Amino acid sequence: MALVNSKKMFEQAYKNGYAIGAFNVNNMEIVQGITEACKEVNAPVILQVSKGARAYANHTYLVKLVEAAVKECPEIPIVLHLDHGPDFETCKSCIDGGFTSVMIDGSHLPFEENIELTKKVVEYAHARGVTVEGELGTLAGIEDDVKVEHGAESYTKPEEVIEFVTRTGVDSLAIAIGTSHGAYKFKPEQCTRNEQGILVPPALRFDILEEVSKKLPGFPIVLHGSSSVPQEYVKMVNDNGGKMPDAIGVPEEQLRKAAGLSVCKINLDSDLRLAMTGTIRQFFNEKPDKFDPREYLKPARANIKEIVKHKLINVLGCAGKADECK
Ligand code: G3H
Ligand code: 13P
Ligand code: ZN
Repeated sequence: MALVNSKKMFEQAYKNGYAIGAFNVNNMEIVQGITEACKEVNAPVILQVSKGARAYANHTYLVKLVEAAVKECPEIPIVLHLDHGPDFETCKSCIDGGFTSVMIDGSHLPFEENIELTKKVVEYAHARGVTVEGELGTLAGIEDDVKVEHGAESYTKPEEVIEFVTRTGVDSLAIAIGTSHGAYKFKPEQCTRNEQGILVPPALRFDILEEVSKKLPGFPIVLHGSSSVPQEYVKMVNDNGGKMPDAIGVPEEQLRKAAGLSVCKINLDSDLRLAMTGTIRQFFNEKPDKFDPREYLKPARANIKEIVKHKLINVLGCAGKADECK
């Protein structure tokens, strides 16, 4: 089937208590790892491209890679989505250039300006069958060239969501409830230690999510910054020459709980990067004489596939849901 927008996926996800995985793509191996996992467990998927990915790989290459995945996986619905669209022009360029969904990220703007910009994108997108994600609230962490220090983030204000959604016409809303971009989400001082001495990150603000959902019944909510930073991959990186001390993420049980509520899209990027980097570091450590990119990218792609499969089955709950999303 051809690329789809996110409408049907979110309707089904909301109704049936799961979330669609939105995975960032930057090259062929990442696209293949993700879509092979989705194909194997029959899951719908959102492949998303950031401004940085477009700068790195080029818009046309990324669109063509995703089109190749559509051809190779005709039985799963795939959305091609712009992640953190910074302005109208970038959104327009992606809409004109074959994307089926865009995010306009006006979360750093004053409320009225965020509404104005988001509405402009919605009008352009909807006239072309493209769905739009907006954002209220600011996450900590790094996204593209924007770095928000821990402590400078701001939770979404539930009292603003009805006005934002009504006046902009967005199809989904990203909110800030304590998730955060990157692999260093929570500083050790933000965490507590359990009996085994393992760091436990702070709980997500489910009270805010519930208040938002009460105000917007049936409306799809999005969580960014949702990587869980698997400790086996942090160890793999550190055991093989890397330096990622204190990298810690969002517990998967909390994401599973959110997926059962109004959260219909969960963004994951750092976990896949860790899987890829850990695997490549280990490969070179064990086989320092190797130099063929195919040899080290092959196990990296295989581990991306494995981690995505795990997320689809155990965290997002969208395995086996491809057919109902068509
Ligand atoms: O939220 C940001 C995503 O992880 C994309 O990251 O801007 O480095 O491509 P990037
Ligand atoms: P992570 O850095 O937690 O993977 O978040 C990715 C993201 O939100 C992309 O928009
Ligand atoms: Zn994000």
